[in-house]
This record gives sequence, structure tokens and C-alpha cells, in this order.
Amino acid sequence: VKYHLTTLGCQMNSHDSEKIAGLLEALGYTRAGSEEEADLVLYNTCSVRENPERKVFGRLSALRRRKQARPGLIVGVCGCLVQVPAHRARLAEAYPQVNLVFGTHNLHELPAYLERVRQGERVIEVWEEGREPVEGVPVRREDDLHAWINLASGCDNACAYCIVPTTRGPCRSRPAERILAEAAEVAANGVREVTLLGQNVNAYGRDLPGAPDFAGLLWQLNRVEGLWRIRFTTSHPKDVSDGLIEALAGAEKVCEHLHLPLQSGSTAVLGRMNRGYTAADYLRLVDRLRSSVPELALTTDLIVGFPGETEEEFAQTLAAVEAVGFDAAFTFVYSPRPGTPAAAWPDQVPAEVKRERIARLLSRQEQQSAERNRRLVGREVEVLVAGRSKTDPAMLAGRTRTNKLVHFPGPAYLAGTLAAVRIVDAHPWTLYGQLATEGHST
Ligand code: SAH
Ligand code: SF4
Ligand code: F3S
Repeated sequence: VKYHLTTLGCQMNSHDSEKIAGLLEALGYTRAGSEEEADLVLYNTCSVRENPERKVFGRLSALRRRKQARPGLIVGVCGCLVQVPAHRARLAEAYPQVNLVFGTHNLHELPAYLERVRQGERVIEVWEEGREPVEGVPVRREDDLHAWINLASGCDNACAYCIVPTTRGPCRSRPAERILAEAAEVAANGVREVTLLGQNVNAYGRDLPGAPDFAGLLWQLNRVEGLWRIRFTTSHPKDVSDGLIEALAGAEKVCEHLHLPLQSGSTAVLGRMNRGYTAADYLRLVDRLRSSVPELALTTDLIVGFPGETEEEFAQTLAAVEAVGFDAAFTFVYSPRPGTPAAAWPDQVPAEVKRERIARLLSRQEQQSAERNRRLVGREVEVLVAGRSKTDPAMLAGRTRTNKLVHFPGPAYLAGTLAAVRIVDAHPWTLYGQLATEGHST
């Protein structure tokens, strides 16, 4: 039996998909080369903006005919979308071709649900709340060199635009010893880089006995043998501690990159978003970070067209982008999420204004990214070589510690090693280099 799994959304969802694949392969399922040849078609979904939602419903409509031709086909929908009651009801009522629905809190129950579906039942099982983080689910990792590791699920914040607290529940941290054991295990299997995942990693441990903190965990992970690089995402600016800055500066495996979502450069908008910091707080934080970690690459998330955003408030976002000099930014048009506070506010920004603003923001950020990257030309950087470039097989591809993609000519056997690369050219999203010396393994 073959499965095909489509994943939308953030890294958390990609990692959940690795667990779903792990569970399925433990049951003897194998991966289908395409959706057409699969006996089980699964969509692991996202609700953070309207676009991914629309995509899923569109794809499910297209599956109706295939299901009619092949009644044995199992069509499943899981992930964040089904945690929203209205979407779940829509699936149950208007999408009879879907015969399996499960949520973010109960994906480990998948084998039992599949058994029931095979008996002919239509299974729609979504838990409203997560219990303890579930341990021991087999993971089918997508990458040999890099692994995602969950720190915590859910989020205790209440940003006025955001659906994630609804889809993932409150913050529940995994015990530190589990995280350390998982890191040691993947490192023993050859993984060299881990990315620690949490909606707000800086809140890690507050819900655990003894309240272990994130910075302490980083120092412990720094001692895991065989691991070369530690990354993490996401850091809420209001919760960045001195300890975290010290770990970024001092723990040698912790990479010099911080994803620090600003969302808006306007203090008034930040207040309406309920973010808990001002634009000035953010700029001061950036100064502190850069004075301790001069090499630090900073990336961010920005939302344009939040309800009531004036031209002047938007201009403050452009000014903040200019003032900080982000290495990269993910820019989003505000998308009203049913049930979140901001979705009900009367002063929604017209679509054409949002479009025009995001275009201006994108071009400003592109210049910034190019400028930040140009500073690296002539310098030697450490690249963890992933393998041949997907876009140009004559080139190797890998990332710097600051998470920048580098393409350079070299022999395939360097895959999985650290190479010293001299940067010769810089584009906004890619650096080009030449081998300085051949790879060495630490
Ligand atoms: N927990 C993380 C990620 C949240 S979702 C964090 O706090 O940063 C990732 C990004 O999606 C957010 O940072 C935000 O920029 C964007 N986003 C969330 N809700 C959105 C919405 N309703 N409309 C547009 N963008 C949104
Ligand atoms: Fe959403 Fe805010 Fe939590 Fe991030 S911190 S997941 S944006 S509520
Ligand atoms: Fe989307 Fe859920 Fe992640 S809503 S952004 S997949 S936590």
C-alpha cells in the first residue's frame, strides 16, 4: 500500500509530517511517487492565512472524481485546518470524499484510525486540547544531515491576528532530558545540524517542574557529541533573555542567526497586535544582540495591512526595515482569521492597498538582503555541504552558520562535511563561492 502526503505550513507541520510518515512506514506503507498512484492521500494543512486553506479545499474538490473511480482510496485531512471547528464541519458536511480527519493533538492515533477506516468507518476525530506532549512516535526524517526537534507545542501568547493558539493550544514543553536524548540519537545517526522548534522557544520550560530555561537547554545541547550546529525558531522579541544572548555569543554550536519576528515597525500597530514591545524596544534589542554577536544574521516576519494600518504606520515598517538591515524577511499580507480578535475589527485595509504596500516592502527588503550579502564578498565562510545544488547540478549547495545558501563548484564527496568557502558573488537570496580549502570534519 502506498501513501502520498502533502504538507502545507510551517516547520512544525513539516516535522509532524515526518511523524505521520514514520507511523505509516511502521505499518508497512511505502511512499507513492505521485498522488495518482497512492492508496492513501493525506493533506497536512495550515490555517495561518487564507491561501493555504483555499488550496486544500480546492485539491479536495478535485479528488472527488478519483474517489468515485476508486472507492477504496482513503482521503485524509489533518493538521491545523481541522482544529478550526468551522472548517471541520465543512469537511464533514460538504466533502464526503474525505474519510479520515484527525488533528494536531492526536496524530499519534493514526494507526488506530486507519484500521477503523479500513473496516469501512468514516473517522473524524479531533481533540480540542493536547495532553502531555506525546513521545515515542517514529520519525521518518527527510534529511540525513539536518533534523527538526520539537521543544514545545502550542503558544501562550494572544497576538490579535493569529490562529496558532487555537490550532495548537497552549504551550506545552517537552522535558529537557527527552530533547537531549533525541539530539544525541540523531547525532549518533549522522545528523550534524538540528533546528529546535517552538512557536516561542523563549517560553520553553515555563510550564515544566523547576522551570528549566531555553538558554540552559542550549548550553546542554552544545555538549552533544557529533552535533556541529544548533538552530532554533521562533524567538518572540519580548522574551529574549540575557541568557539567550550569552548562549548565542558563547555556545560554539549555536549558530549566529536569529529569527526575530518584528511584524510591524509601528508601535501603535504593535500595540493593537498585542505583541508586548514597542518599535524602540525592538531596535534596542537588536543593538544589544549585535554588540554581543557581531556576526549575527537577523531574519524577521512582517505583516502589512493589519486592520487600521495607515500609510504613516506602514512607512514606519519601511523605516524599521531600513534601520535594522535584516538579512531576510518573510512578508505577509494580513489575512483575517475567523475567531481571532482583529478579524472582527471594522477598519480592514482594502486589498489593493495591501498589495501595493507589500510590493514596496518586498523591493525594499530585497535591496537590504542584497546589501547584507554583498558584505560577505571576499570573505571566507564555513559551509555545511548538503550536496549537489537542485538548480545547478554542476554546483554544490550548503548553508553558512548564518543560514545563507551558498553555491560553489566542488566534488560531490564533500557532501556532509564543513567546507571553507570564499564568497565571490552575492545575490539577494544566494551567495556564490569558491572552495578555499577542502572540507574537514570536526
Ligand atoms: N510563532 C511564530 C510563528 C507564527 S506564524 C511567531 O510568533 O513568530 C508565522 C508568521 O505568520 C507570523 O510571524 C506572522 O508574521 C504571520 N501571520 C500569522 N498570522 C497571520 C495573519 N492572520 N495574516 C498574515 N500573516 C500572519
Ligand atoms: Fe501566533 Fe503570536 Fe503565538 Fe506567534 S507568538 S504563534 S504570532 S500568537
Ligand atoms: Fe500553519 Fe499550524 Fe504552522 S496554522 S503556520 S501549520 S502552526
